[in-house]
Amino acid sequence: MAESFSTELLPAAKVDRYATLAEEIGAVLDGETNLVARMSTVASMLAASFDEFFWTGFYVVDPHNPRELVVGPYQGSLGCLRIAFGRGVCGAVAQSGHPLIVPDVEAFPGHIACDSRSRSEIVLPVRDRSGNLIAVLDVDSERLAAFDAVDQAGLEPIVALVSPD
Ligand code: SME
Repeated sequence: MAESFSTELLPAAKVDRYATLAEEIGAVLDGETNLVARMSTVASMLAASFDEFFWTGFYVVDPHNPRELVVGPYQGSLGCLRIAFGRGVCGAVAQSGHPLIVPDVEAFPGHIACDSRSRSEIVLPVRDRSGNLIAVLDVDSERLAAFDAVDQAGLEPIVALVSPD
């Protein structure tokens, strides 16, 4: 009889995988000062590390319009190009400066459906070394409730690596 298979990791395995990944990303980024190169590397390495990450990438604060995000380096299907502060999950995080875990995107008021396969997501603010918001990291899954506090705790040190010294 066919058994259903879950790609969900046990919490301890997830903690370990994030810790290893943060070390690996730090090693790859060492000495690189270009922000696009750094964001591209993080998006790629995140996508390769977790089977259930459907979309991984950045929405960057537009230097020409500091109340708007514009898509940055990502891995996954076509992302919307621009998101105003306050709109959708990414815009809410850009506005508040606080991470958000959304277990069911359809239940999130104003969620922006770039791809209807995305069912849950986590978004974290990305800051420069002075603490200014420069982007948000958006990770989406096709599974409902794919993200929890372990993901947030695992991703926080990774977003802290994005901005060059
Ligand atoms: N889900 C996001 C939009 C970006 S895409 O999912 C790539 C949001 O509502 O902010």
